[in-house]
Amino acid sequence: MKTPLETERLNVNLAGLRLNNPTMLASGILGYSADTLESIAEGGAGAVVTKSVGLKPRKGYANPTVVQVNCGLINAMGLPNPGIEEFTKDIREAKAVLKVPLIASVYGFSAEEYATVAVKAAKAGADAVELNVSCPHVKETGAEIGQKPEVLAEVVKKVKANVEKPVFVKLSPNVADIAEMAETAAKAGADALTAINTVKAMAIDLETAKPILGNRKGGLSGQAIKPIAVRCVYEIYERVKVPIIGCGGITNWRDAVEFMLAGATAVQIGTAIAQKGPNVFKTVAKGIDAYLKRKGFRSVNETVGMAHRS
Ligand code: FUM
Repeated sequence: MKTPLETERLNVNLAGLRLNNPTMLASGILGYSADTLESIAEGGAGAVVTKSVGLKPRKGYANPTVVQVNCGLINAMGLPNPGIEEFTKDIREAKAVLKVPLIASVYGFSAEEYATVAVKAAKAGADAVELNVSCPHVKETGAEIGQKPEVLAEVVKKVKANVEKPVFVKLSPNVADIAEMAETAAKAGADALTAINTVKAMAIDLETAKPILGNRKGGLSGQAIKPIAVRCVYEIYERVKVPIIGCGGITNWRDAVEFMLAGATAVQIGTAIAQKGPNVFKTVAKGIDAYLKRKGFRSVNETVGMAHRS
């Protein structure tokens, strides 16, 4: 007998990538090592997204880089990474052991940089790239690109012209109209859209009367942002046809199903790993499967966007 994670009901095709279940590791949560990514795949993730990597090594911000708040975490790490040359070794090592697709999250300070990093990641074996055009607190990259439609289009087109693997675009909620950005990215060639990255936030220490994070401001993730993320996925689904990956505060199968009903084909889990460990993927996938079975659905696909039909 097949176990819940082996059932065909859970299989999804994400812009050509075949996932055995719709749960994915979100970018930014864990490091780059093959061992770490493998432990997430063993925990049941249908795919893994790496931490964001750029052209050159970056130290990131001074501590503290993470602060816990009610129902979430605020982080401002500052995109610390070893640079793409060093990182290609990690991609190759991870690909040698992983049995699920590996998606490399990339950023740059220009369209050319995004493309150069994406090409190197793809050549090293990444099954797809996810463009980080949504980090809310590093100057001249991330959301500073993803909130300007012309610049966003230029970046996506440049990467698409140079990379043969699927290109995902991770969108920022810190914009007036996320569906407009989604449409811009889709018209420029994005194969899938991830919604959302963190919500701009900060926390202040009462005793010192100072901002807690080294960078003062950061991005809020976790349960607090789930309703914002569901609304974003819902709005994007109404505007574009490309697959959407829901991300933001998913901690259990109910959250995951809610994102699917809003329009997500797959979901990324990040902050919940800190509370629940790597097996959160298995638990969520099993819960989705039980829901599909109980409701008489033959596939995850039958639930995608259902809330728009009711
Ligand atoms: O600080 C960071 O590295 C965060 C990146 C992101 O939110 O994309």
